[in-house]
Amino acid sequence: MSDLIIPAKVPVATKPLSISETVRKARHNVLEILPGLIFRQPMISGVMVKRWHMVAQPDALEAVLKDRVDDYPKSPVTKRLLKPAIGESLFNADGAYWRWQRRAAAPVFQHRHLMALAPLMTEAAERSAARMADEMEQRGQVEAYEQMVAATFDVICDVALSGRETLDRNAVSKSVNDYIETVGKVSLLDVIGVPTWVPRPATLFKRRHVADMRSMMDRVIADRRGKPIGSDLLDLMKDATDPETGRQMTADELRDNMLAFIVAGHETTALALSWSIHLLSLDQSAQDKARDEARAAFGDGPAEASHLGDLAFTGQVIDEALRLYPPAAFLARIALKADRLCGRPIIPGDILMLPIYALHRHQLLWENPDAFDPSRMTTETQRARHRYQFLPFGAGPRICIGMGFAQMEAKLILATLLARFRFRPAGPEPEPAMNLTLRPRGGVRVTVEPITLEVDGRREGSTVPVLGYAVEQTASSWRLR
Ligand code: HEM
Repeated sequence: MSDLIIPAKVPVATKPLSISETVRKARHNVLEILPGLIFRQPMISGVMVKRWHMVAQPDALEAVLKDRVDDYPKSPVTKRLLKPAIGESLFNADGAYWRWQRRAAAPVFQHRHLMALAPLMTEAAERSAARMADEMEQRGQVEAYEQMVAATFDVICDVALSGRETLDRNAVSKSVNDYIETVGKVSLLDVIGVPTWVPRPATLFKRRHVADMRSMMDRVIADRRGKPIGSDLLDLMKDATDPETGRQMTADELRDNMLAFIVAGHETTALALSWSIHLLSLDQSAQDKARDEARAAFGDGPAEASHLGDLAFTGQVIDEALRLYPPAAFLARIALKADRLCGRPIIPGDILMLPIYALHRHQLLWENPDAFDPSRMTTETQRARHRYQFLPFGAGPRICIGMGFAQMEAKLILATLLARFRFRPAGPEPEPAMNLTLRPRGGVRVTVEPITLEVDGRREGSTVPVLGYAVEQTASSWRLR
């Protein structure tokens, strides 16, 4: 590759950190506690009150996440912190209670159900394009992260709750965001084993937001009793049945799982999209390639489910964004049994940190690990790689249940936007900073230019064919709505 594009990365620790340095760095950005060594070695270990290990080696990750999954449950600290909001839902449960919920919910995310939800994603993509055009007109630039959070929240409200219930979307969105922020701050200090005498920002923890989220969802579920809509996630989950026992979810279990989908699914997908837009704004030739693909697939119409198969390069861009900036950049487990990983002894009670961010930029695994290069994400290259080298959605039995949903949503929204706009950087590069998720601190500031069309070899003016937003029509193929 000739011109390598090296986007922003996290500064790594070059020497061992004291407890107070670890706390200070973790509060600013938890990824700054990653030692430089973990980008060059399979595994490193230490003691901070408890023994801990960071594992960035595909075989060892396969052992933890798949082969011996029952011996490495999720960290009890994270579970305790998430419990007030999402209870013992699919995301948080372990053992038999997790297993039955997963068996019941898996069919809900089947391909045919996702395909039925696609039109709502397409509509949300169009509304998002309209809002972007509007923000550009008002402010002369667009903050793509906020825009993508709004777009994916739109999707989750529409597909999870049909958008018909009386929801105060802004209030819910704010609750979810505050919740992620405060839980993120509290939990990471615990996950990394910082001693309990270090003060936690517990006062930040806004119980009111959690209570609001839960009562809103309870109302929606109660209102829906006897009034099925038939095709959204809530109806599908209401009917979800464990094929082994015939068990269905109680109203409380339904509420916890629906909230888990919202908390786990909406901001993560917005991040995949925002980082993709950021990277494409830095690499105009990759942006052109993705745009050409989008326009060849659906021209001036909206991106729909039937076009997904023609958007391979768009998928590669999203995967490369998920490699460089995995929203779930850090997973945590606890060892229940004695074991050996990478030749080292593991004893019960050891904390396992799975630094997905470091795995995805590991010098032994990737060529030019810090460079943006979507060509490394073709189906063939991905197949040739170790399955546990690229883990944006986790892997094994606890792999993200919403993976297909998120991939479809991200492709439809990104392709729709690229077919209409050119993105260019309009501010300093965002800093990748992890709270509970890996966010672009400072925002993704871009300009959004309606694209110029080639008509009979001439450059023509531009059009923004979005709902209620057709500005001007210069080529016969543009369809106004
Ligand atoms: C780009 C978007 C997304 C990313 C990067 C992502 C990432 C992940 C990861 C890494 C895990 C595994 C966590 C672990 O093993 O500790 C996970 C689990 C999960 N995700 Fe996602 N996710 C995304 C979108 C979604 C969506 C859209 C939904 C729901 C609609 C969702 C729902 C869940 C649930 C319920 C689990 C727990 C599954 C289980 O333990 O059985 N996620 N996700």
